[in-house]
Amino acid sequence: MKNDIERILVDEEIIERRLDTMAKEIERDFPAGPIVVVILLKGALVFAADLLRRIPRELSIECLNVASYHGGLESSGKVDFLDRHFPEVKGKHIILLDDILDTGRTLAAVAQRLREEGASAVHTGVLLAKDKKRAEEVEADYVGFAIGDEFVVGYGLDYKGKYRNLPYVGILKLSAAT
Ligand code: IMP
Ligand code: MG
Repeated sequence: MKNDIERILVDEEIIERRLDTMAKEIERDFPAGPIVVVILLKGALVFAADLLRRIPRELSIECLNVASYHGGLESSGKVDFLDRHFPEVKGKHIILLDDILDTGRTLAAVAQRLREEGASAVHTGVLLAKDKKRAEEVEADYVGFAIGDEFVVGYGLDYKGKYRNLPYVGILKLSAAT
């Protein structure tokens, strides 16, 4: 698996340090009271698990399955909600977590749906944000790292379902993207 990585973009230690400060920012910004953390599967799983354990307050977790990438290198331009039931979010304070902000379609579509379902506030956090023009006008409230417009894997991010368990974020070798 390691052999498929061209170069490491964000290593484990740097991620850990950044999560410490992100957690403090969230802790500082959110008013007292419970938070519902909405995790976008599967990409945000690793990031969310590490971030949540740094937030010492009452919170509950919901997970959502959406598909926008369909396993390839390019965004399909459409966001599908794959779960049979949508979580109960009426009147709740939400923090929506995703692995990466790319075209912005996923975050925009899910945030809109959460508002439609009656969430009282929707904040967003991503591990990575690609520095590029977005298809949807959306930015995240909390960004771990701004990166270039490159395809990355690791720390939750996949290529065709692989590499999510790499402890760092890296750039895939062209030869591995088959
Ligand atoms: P968006 O809707 O275009 O912003 O894309 C967001 C989703 O696309 C993320 O949740 C990822 O699953 C996937 N994605 C976007 N860029 C990358 C990448 O560089 N590597 C792996 N997955 C990516
Ligand atoms: Mg993905």
